Formats: sequence, structure tokens, C-alpha cells
Amino acid sequence: MSVAGSRLTGGGSTSRYTRPANASTLARTGPANWLPVRATLFRSSGHSASESAEPRVGRLSGACPYDVWVQTWDAITARRNVRDFADRPIAADDLDRILEAGRRSPSSQNWQPWDFVLVTDRAQLAELSQVFAGAYHVAQSAATIAIVGPAADNPYRRAQFDLGQAAMSMALAAADLGIGSCHAGVADMALAQRVLGLPSDRDWAILLSLGYPADRPLAPVRNPRRRPFDEVVHRGRWGGGR
Ligand SMILES: Cc1cc2nc3c(=O)[nH]c(=O)nc-3n(C[C@H](O)[C@H](O)[C@H](O)COP(=O)(O)O)c2cc1C
Repeated sequence: MSVAGSRLTGGGSTSRYTRPANASTLARTGPANWLPVRATLFRSSGHSASESAEPRVGRLSGACPYDVWVQTWDAITARRNVRDFADRPIAADDLDRILEAGRRSPSSQNWQPWDFVLVTDRAQLAELSQVFAGAYHVAQSAATIAIVGPAADNPYRRAQFDLGQAAMSMALAAADLGIGSCHAGVADMALAQRVLGLPSDRDWAILLSLGYPADRPLAPVRNPRRRPFDEVVHRGRWGGGR
């Protein structure tokens, strides 16, 4: 996932989660430098693949002279909703990378219906947290991104899916940097419009709060609180087993 090497922690002495030695030389000055020439990709087998991942070297287009590690699986397994944030700011470059992940998200017919409003001011975050009881964590976050929906949609309500994808892309990009995130809905949209200064036709949004976890660093979660794999996955037909 990261062109600079994952900042996730855990995994012990033979960990794949530590930053590769060469990554410290990677200048992270902006999107122009983010596309690697050569990446070491991990091909994993199955949903508990951390230990069985095998390296695979591939060549990507671009003009960046760095060898990099792509650890998408680590970010996927380490991401969790964090609602208790450390009192630690997020570097501007890291916030830009998270926003860039959202901008790169796929969308129906590539219509890119989203706008992102980045909020880092403490007083503004406190005010924004009042838009919904479930948004309390916004007040303590280092930053919150308001993902603003489009003025109009088609009958299939495709924008909800598209904004969800953008939110997940940003959550994974954040996890890759060791930054926790949490989604929150917006109930009082009039308040959100006022706090964020939205145009009157932008009448729906979701929030993604961001920050370093106060409890424990992000690390791959071995047993997530999820329905069992074989209950969720149907092979060929509903109820079809292995
Ligand atoms: C559509 C949606 C709405 C959510 N709304 C809220 C919310 O308003 N407040 C909140 O704290 N978490 C919210 N969440 C986070 C969920 O509670 C969380 O994804 C779920 O508990 C799994 O957490 P985990 O990934 O840490 O295991 C929302 C998640 C989704 C996908």
C-alpha cells in the first residue's frame, strides 16, 4: 500500500510490518513522487494470509527511482475504527496522501461526485462533532475529513456507494501510515453546512475522523469481530460450502 513502507507495528523480529531499510531515503514531497518504478508486492493466499504471503516483484510505470514495499494486506488487516485519539498532530504530507487516496477512488462512470473538506482546527472539530451523537470522536481527532456528496444523483443512488469507496480508500491509506480512522454519519446537516461553509445544494455528507490511536498502535488484527468466513461466503450457490 505504501510507497514509503508501512508504518504499521507488530509482527515480531521477522515482521513484514517494519519499515524497509531503504525506505528512509524516500523523499515524500507530494503526489509527483508517489508513483514507484519498482515495487515488491506481496501475494497472499486466503483471508489469514499474513504469515504465508510471498514476495512478488513487479514493474510499475512512473519515474520514481525507489525500490518500495507494497503491503496492502497489512493495511487491510490493521485498519479498525479508532475513536480514542492521541494528542498528536498528523503531518500535512500524510493528510495529503490520505486525501489523494480518496481522489483516486473509482466511481460510477468516473463522475467523481465527492468533495473533501479537511478540518484540523480544534474549535471547528468540536463544533463539527455536534452533528450526530455518533460523531463524538470528531472532537478529539487530529483531523476530520468531511466527504461531501453531490448536489444530485441518479435513481440508483450510486453516490452512496462511491462515497463509501472513497471513505474506505482513505481509511486504508491512513491505516498504512499507522493512523486510525472512524466513520461517522451526519444527522444535523444544517449544522454541518454551517460549520463547513457548504453551498446550500450540498445537503449530505459523511465524516472520517483521523488520528493516532490513544490505546495501542495499529497492527494486523488476527481475529476481527466479524461473522465467520464460511457463513459469509457462499460458493456457486447460496449455502454452497467448500
Ligand atoms: C455506514 C457506516 C456508518 C457508520 N457510522 C458510525 C457513526 O456514526 N459513528 C461511529 O462511531 N462509527 C460509525 N461507523 C463505524 C462502525 O461502527 C464500524 O465500522 C464497525 O463497528 C466495525 O468496527 P471495526 O472495523 O473497528 O471492527 C459506521 C460505519 C459504517 C460503514
